[in-house]
Amino acid sequence: MNLILLGAPGAGKGTQAERIAEKHGMVQLSTGEMLRAAVKAGSEIGMKAKSVMEAGGLVSDEIVIGIISERIDQPDCANGFILDGFPRTLPQAAALETLLDSKGKTLDAVIEIKVDDTALVERITGRFSCAKCGVGYHDTFKPTSTAGVCDKCGSTEFVRRADDNEETVKNRLMSYYRETAPLTGYYFAKDRLKGVDGMADIGEVTNQIEAILS
Ligand code: AP5
Ligand code: MG
Ligand code: ZN
Repeated sequence: MNLILLGAPGAGKGTQAERIAEKHGMVQLSTGEMLRAAVKAGSEIGMKAKSVMEAGGLVSDEIVIGIISERIDQPDCANGFILDGFPRTLPQAAALETLLDSKGKTLDAVIEIKVDDTALVERITGRFSCAKCGVGYHDTFKPTSTAGVCDKCGSTEFVRRADDNEETVKNRLMSYYRETAPLTGYYFAKDRLKGVDGMADIGEVTNQIEAILS
């Protein structure tokens, strides 16, 4: 099964992709995570992406299409993948279609996670993750069970993303409405689009996605 999760910044794409991928033995493909890893490693792609990401803009189609094209060829993707944060522009959607066709792969569903704009800002500014294992948390909505200790690995070090501040979030939202929102129309016209209520709590959103998949 191959899926796309669509949604504004902070809608819960990463949270849900992680849960669904784990349950079904699929791979989560987050272009945001891959680009952050490239920035951290100081690679050529990372150097090109850094300032764009910090400003809340979109990295070039050429770069992200290249990253995804290579990643989809890896053997672990044969069991199915969840695209989280890709495609994000109409040219990326068109390129994905060509790519999947050429590799004999299909797209099973496109699921849009719908969340109110005011909730998005609250979700993003409260987000943090474990510096060691990467698992994600939220100050209010998904705190660690013991304050200051990661539930999964016991680490006491946490990080916040460089682009998770209120000003950059607004630019990310602008990029979303300008470039990414048209994809809902694109996939609706192709009879692929399904929507879930992303204002529900995390487990309930997962249940809605599972209902679509079954
Ligand atoms: P990316 O990393 O994809 O960021 P984003 O789209 O802004 O999305 P987020 O990761 O912020 O949100 P999310 O939907 O994953 O939410 P999460 O599950 O964490 O991209 C970063 C940057 O990279 C882009 O700005 C761009 O520059 C570049 N980039 C990436 N892909 C690109 C592409 N294809 N083309 C061009 N450029 C690209 O949830 C958020 C918080 O809310 C968490 O704390 C979570 O615990 C909490 N939460 C989740 N669900 C719920 C719920 N139901 N109720 C309450 N709280 C919840
Ligand atoms: Mg994410
Ligand atoms: Zn951890």
